[in-house]
Amino acid sequence: MAISRLIPLIILSMYTALLSMSSAMFSPQPGICYGKLGDNLPRPQDAVALVTSLHAKRVKLYDANPSILHALRNTRLQVSIMVPNELIANISSNQSLSDKWVSDNVVPFHPATRIRYLLVGNEVASSTGNATWLRLVPAMRRLRRSIKALGLRKIKLGTPCAMDVLQTSFPPSNAAFRTDLTGPVIRPMLSFLKRTKSFFFVDVYPYFAWASDPVNINLDYALFRSNNVTVKDPGSGLVYTNLFDQMVDAVHFAMKRLGFPGIRIFIAETGWPNGGDLDQIGANVFNAATYNRNFVKRVMSKPVLGTPARPGSVLPSFLFALFNENMKPGPGTERHFGLLHPNGSRVYDIDLSGETPEREFRRLPVPDNNEKFKGRIWCVAARRDNATALAAALSYACSQGNGTCEPVQAGGKCYRPDSLFWHASYAFSSYWAQFRKVGGTCYFNGLAMQTAKDPSYGSCKFPSVTL
Ligand SMILES: *[C@@H]1O[C@H](CO)[C@@H](O)[C@H](O)[C@H]1NC(C)=O
Ligand SMILES: *[C@@H]1O[C@H](CO)[C@@H](O)[C@H](O)[C@H]1NC(C)=O
Ligand SMILES: *[C@@H]1O[C@H](CO)[C@@H](O)[C@H](O)[C@H]1NC(C)=O
Ligand SMILES: *[C@@H]1O[C@H](CO)[C@@H](O)[C@H](O)[C@H]1NC(C)=O
Ligand SMILES: *[C@@H]1O[C@H](CO)[C@@H](O)[C@H](O)[C@H]1NC(C)=O
Ligand SMILES: *[C@@H]1O[C@H](CO)[C@@H](O)[C@H](O)[C@H]1NC(C)=O
Ligand SMILES: *[C@@H]1O[C@H](CO)[C@@H](O)[C@H](O)[C@H]1NC(C)=O
Repeated sequence: MAISRLIPLIILSMYTALLSMSSAMFSPQPGICYGKLGDNLPRPQDAVALVTSLHAKRVKLYDANPSILHALRNTRLQVSIMVPNELIANISSNQSLSDKWVSDNVVPFHPATRIRYLLVGNEVASSTGNATWLRLVPAMRRLRRSIKALGLRKIKLGTPCAMDVLQTSFPPSNAAFRTDLTGPVIRPMLSFLKRTKSFFFVDVYPYFAWASDPVNINLDYALFRSNNVTVKDPGSGLVYTNLFDQMVDAVHFAMKRLGFPGIRIFIAETGWPNGGDLDQIGANVFNAATYNRNFVKRVMSKPVLGTPARPGSVLPSFLFALFNENMKPGPGTERHFGLLHPNGSRVYDIDLSGETPEREFRRLPVPDNNEKFKGRIWCVAARRDNATALAAALSYACSQGNGTCEPVQAGGKCYRPDSLFWHASYAFSSYWAQFRKVGGTCYFNGLAMQTAKDPSYGSCKFPSVTL
């Protein structure tokens, strides 16, 4: 009996060994993005242990932090490191700087740390001016030369793009790159990626697409949980059952349009926020867990699913992100993409190997913000513990807009109580009411928060945003 059990096991393990050898570069098991814009995050060695405990296959850094690369030595994790946007222009015109960057940041950790991807900048076309874009591909070429010269054969070069490199993405078969980028950036980049057998790295967030149009896009379609919503692309005849596939295929068709149908796609980031501000829809633990678990299930399914335009092709990926990062600026969702709290506990159960059956996960809280918030919102001071910072934020808010802080001046209707906390609350509400429509946020480095409870008192009326 023992023997009859053993044989299939041996065959099975030989088979998995073969499989993992032949597809070593192509594992569908997701990695995770290790962002560290938080003032309360674990030490690198503890963070690496957490990455491992989530069963991530890879880890992506947004720099080449030596302590983290050190902590990653002798783990099985494939590692992706990043050249900062600020260095792209200089590297593009200076081979010795490129060589030096690789010598300083890669060589000391190779091969004990399995550095496999060198990403050049982050969302360069979205977050920098054309002075940097134009230097991107030349910088990639120089870094590739450095890597080859140093004999670091296993490292692929790429650069993560946001979906806004596309001018059009719907229907997918009609997708095209932005015209300002196509000639100077995208074409030479695709040639480079093809020649070097690398990947087109792209950040794909169905959350943002859905949240910008929740009336016309079905939430379940965005969460990979719809059984009955399908979208047929009239151009290709392909039928989509989820928003993620639709977005990925848009990238495929945009590349194909330029004559590069075969470049592999690597999901450099995807995920769903587990929380956010009052005025943000659908950012909750239930949706985040649902999206990320279904994503894992989908990419890990056997046989490999791929997407409608590329059936059966493995889609390597990184989930965003390891931790909720409390120092990221912008709307609340930015600080709530983590699978983990900063103390290392899980925001919800998830297993990136896809091996834990769903029934073993703890129950999820019922979502309470899948509909748009309706009503008035104020922006008030959230913390009293740093008077210096609060005073600086108050003074900044008051310096913006028209008469933003008049009522809190001596004799004004909101002057009393003459307290920093109350004056700041008034100023934040007044600032936000004027600037929200042009992208102003209720954040102030974490000193402000949104509330649906009217802070007005007596004859002091706080300005509000009405949704
Ligand atoms: C780029 O090079 C210029 C000229 O050598 C130098 O002044 C500048 O500080 C460099 N920029 C960065 C980000 O290193
Ligand atoms: C190129 O980079 C090297 C190494 O950092 C530096 O010493 C040199 O000054 C740079 N050359 C120019 C022209 O900036
Ligand atoms: C770069 O952008 C500036 C404006 O931001 C524009 O005037 C200039 O024509 C652009 N250059 C190229 C090469 O696209
Ligand atoms: C899909 O099914 C859900 C639940 O069964 C239902 O509420 C929804 O109306 C259906 N949508 C379509 C487009 O048929
Ligand atoms: C970790 O942080 C979360 C969020 O602040 C909190 O709910 C949880 O209780 C903490 N867990 C531990 C073990 O401290
Ligand atoms: C208060 O905030 C300022 C500016 O953000 C910061 O430099 C300072 O360290 C903070 N002080 C405390 C005690 O947290
Ligand atoms: C302030 O007033 C000026 C002139 O009336 C107007 O052009 C501007 O848009 C106002 N700014 C805000 C933030 O309301």
